Amino acid sequence: MRHFIYFSANAATSGKALSGDLMKAGRMDIAIHSIIQGLFLSHDFRKNTVFHLIFYGMPDPPKHIEMQIKDETQISKKNVAKIIQKILYKYKEGERKEILPGCFVEKKSFLNIVGDLIKKGSSVFILDKKGKDIRKIKFKDNPVFIVGDHNGLPKKELKRLKKIATSVSIGNKMYFASQTIAVVNNELDYQDI
Ligand SMILES: C[S@@+](CC[C@H](N)C(=O)[O-])C[C@H]1O[C@@H](n2cnc3c(N)ncnc32)[C@H](O)[C@@H]1O
Repeated sequence: MRHFIYFSANAATSGKALSGDLMKAGRMDIAIHSIIQGLFLSHDFRKNTVFHLIFYGMPDPPKHIEMQIKDETQISKKNVAKIIQKILYKYKEGERKEILPGCFVEKKSFLNIVGDLIKKGSSVFILDKKGKDIRKIKFKDNPVFIVGDHNGLPKKELKRLKKIATSVSIGNKMYFASQTIAVVNNELDYQDI
């Protein structure tokens, strides 16, 4: 299984906060583009991928939304925003709740999510322009890739993550988060992971 973790310090953490302009809800538009590049193919889905959204915006941070597309998951490129909103609306304090098949929401911190994936045996990679060239890395099963929003990753967490993860670069340009995810998925396709 591939994992992507998309971190946003400002993305809205309630369904109500998502009911207006997506650009104003902590750039939810970037999260949506990233989900599409993470989980969708033309006329198909990447069912071997789990997409984690970690939102630290107002009013109720942090929120961890986990999405994996199952045969029964009703999702299309056109309704991703509505699905995120529904997932956030249905959050219940103190629970990890499955809102749609394969889609869960809970309150959990960024570092705990990464720590749990490491405990399950995953290697973790931070997507970073200054990291090691992705074409020189041979990935193993269950890799985890961490990507930031338009503001990147928070300094404090990044310092701790760098002790347990490898920084990986897809090139010397600064790409959109969603473009980075598309390139990583393509590299993993070539490596048959
Ligand atoms: C628009 S960029 C963030 C820009 C932000 N100002 C910064 O300095 O991090 C969004 C995310 O895409 C990823 N990214 C962008 N360009 C990359 C590259 N060349 N290699 C690897 N990851 C990249 C990083 O994870 C980054 O946090």
